[in-house]
Amino acid sequence: MNAWDPNPDLDAAATLGDALRAVGYTTEAIEELLGDDGPSADLADSVVLERRLPRSALATTIRLLLLQRPVAASDAAAALGHDGVEALLRIGLVTADGLELVPRARLVQAEGVYLAFDGFSRGQDDPPGWVSSFTPTAYWLASLTPRRRVERALDIGTGNGAHALLAAAHAEHVIATDVNARALAFTQISAALNGIDNVETRLGSLFEPVAGETFDLITCNAPYVISPERRWQYRDGGLPGDQLSERVVREAAPHLAEGGHASVLVSWLAESEDDPDERVHDWLEGNGCDAWVLGLSGADPLDHAAGWNDHFTGDPDTMGEALDEWTAYFDALDAGWITEGAVLMRKRDADHHLVRADPVDEEELEFASDQIERVFAALALIAEEGASAILAARLTLAEEVRFDQELDRHGDVQEIRIVLDEGTCPDLELELETAEVLTTLDGDRTLDQAIERTARRFDLGKRDASELRHDTVQAVRELFEQGFFELA
Ligand SMILES: C[S@@+](CC[C@H](N)C(=O)[O-])C[C@H]1O[C@@H](n2cnc3c(N)ncnc32)[C@H](O)[C@@H]1O
Repeated sequence: MNAWDPNPDLDAAATLGDALRAVGYTTEAIEELLGDDGPSADLADSVVLERRLPRSALATTIRLLLLQRPVAASDAAAALGHDGVEALLRIGLVTADGLELVPRARLVQAEGVYLAFDGFSRGQDDPPGWVSSFTPTAYWLASLTPRRRVERALDIGTGNGAHALLAAAHAEHVIATDVNARALAFTQISAALNGIDNVETRLGSLFEPVAGETFDLITCNAPYVISPERRWQYRDGGLPGDQLSERVVREAAPHLAEGGHASVLVSWLAESEDDPDERVHDWLEGNGCDAWVLGLSGADPLDHAAGWNDHFTGDPDTMGEALDEWTAYFDALDAGWITEGAVLMRKRDADHHLVRADPVDEEELEFASDQIERVFAALALIAEEGASAILAARLTLAEEVRFDQELDRHGDVQEIRIVLDEGTCPDLELELETAEVLTTLDGDRTLDQAIERTARRFDLGKRDASELRHDTVQAVRELFEQGFFELA
C-alpha cells in the first residue's frame, strides 16, 4: 500500500494519527520550535529549519513529515513507536532505505486537522496530478465557508481533502470529489488520520459524480487559473478562458437545497479593471440565490502570467516565452483584466434576489462564518422588502465592530471610521451624527427611531434632520449588507 494506491491502508492511517497526537505534532508545537512561518516552510526553508531543530521525538517527526528530510529509522521508532513507523510504511508516506526512512509525501496540521499530500513542489518537474499542501487559496476558502450545522456537504476538487474534512465537523455527511484519484487517496488517508468517518470520496469531473443530488453546503477551490496550458490538474481547469469557473458557478445553484450555501473560489475575465465583475453577474442571473462576490486578487494579463509562471524565474528565456504565449492567449480572448475571487451563494425560494460585489484585501481576510450569516440575512431582507425595510429594522452592531476616531490638535473629532474586525474586515468613514445613531442601536428601537433620537439630541432643524436620515440610511444599507449588524 502507498499513497498512490486508490485503496490506501486506512487502519494504518488511523494508527498513525494516534501516534502523531501522542507525540504532540501540532501547528502550535511547530511554531514554538520554528517560529510562525515554520508550518508553511518551503523546500528552500526546510534545509535551514532542519538545523534549528533540537534532538527530540517531536523534532524527528517535524524533520520527517513537515520538512521532508530523511531520519534514522531508530529515531522515528523512538518518536512514533514501532506501530507508527509500520503505519507510515504501509500507507506509503515513507520508504525504508537501509537504516533511514525517506519521506515520499508530507503531512501537516492545518486549521486543526491532519492533512497528507505530495512532497515539496519541484516546479516544472511536478507531475500533472501533484497534490498540494494547504495553500493560501485553501485558507481563503476555509475562511469564507459558513460553519453552521448541516446535513449534506459537497467539496468539489477536494485535492488533499482539506475542505471536506473541515466540513465533516459540522455536516452529517460529506462527499469529496476530484478528477485525480491520487487526491482522493490522500483525502481518505487524511480522514482516517483524524478519525473522521463521514467523508465519502467520488471520482469524476465537477458535478458529474453528484448528478441529481442537492446539498446544504458546497465548497470548491476550483482549478480556476485561466491559462493556455494543461500542465497541472490543480491549476489548469482545461476549458477555454474562464469557462470552468462559469460552470462551477452556474452548476452549483441547482445542486443547492433550499437555504443551502455555496462558497466557490473561481476566476473571471473582464475587458478592463473598470468593470471587473460583469461576467459573474451574468453567471448568477436568475439562479434562485442571493450572492456575494468577493474579488480577492486582480491583475492584468502580464502580471497574471508572471505570477503563475514563477517556477521559471531562474530561466528568463523560458519565462519570456511563457509570458508571450499567455499574453497572446488573453489578447485573443479580448481580456484586459483577470480577477480571482470567491462567489458565495445562498439558495432562497423567492422572486427577488440580490447580488453584491466587494473587493477584499486578501492579506486582511479572516474567519468569516458569522459575517457571512449576517450578510445573507441582510441581502434576503432587502431583496424581499426593499431598502426602506432598513428604517423599520431593529438592528444591533455585531460584536466585532469598533469605531476609530482621528482627533485634530484641539481634540475635536476629525474623522470617524466604523470597522468590522472579522471576516473580510471592511471599514467605512462616517459622519459624526451617523456614528452617533449607530451607537444607539440596541435591538429595541428601529433605525428610524434612532435617527429621530439623534436629531433631537443634536437639535437639528428639519432640513438637517432629513439630511441625517438620508446619509444614515445610505451608510446603514452599505454596512448592513457587509455584515456589520445583527438583525434583532
Ligand atoms: C486548486 S486545487 C484545490 C485543492 C483543494 N480543494 C484545496 O483547496 O487545497 C483544484 C483541485 O481540483 C481538481 N480538479 C481539476 N479539474 C477538476 C474537475 N474537472 N472536476 C473536479 N475536480 C477537478 C484538481 O485535481 C485539484 O485537486
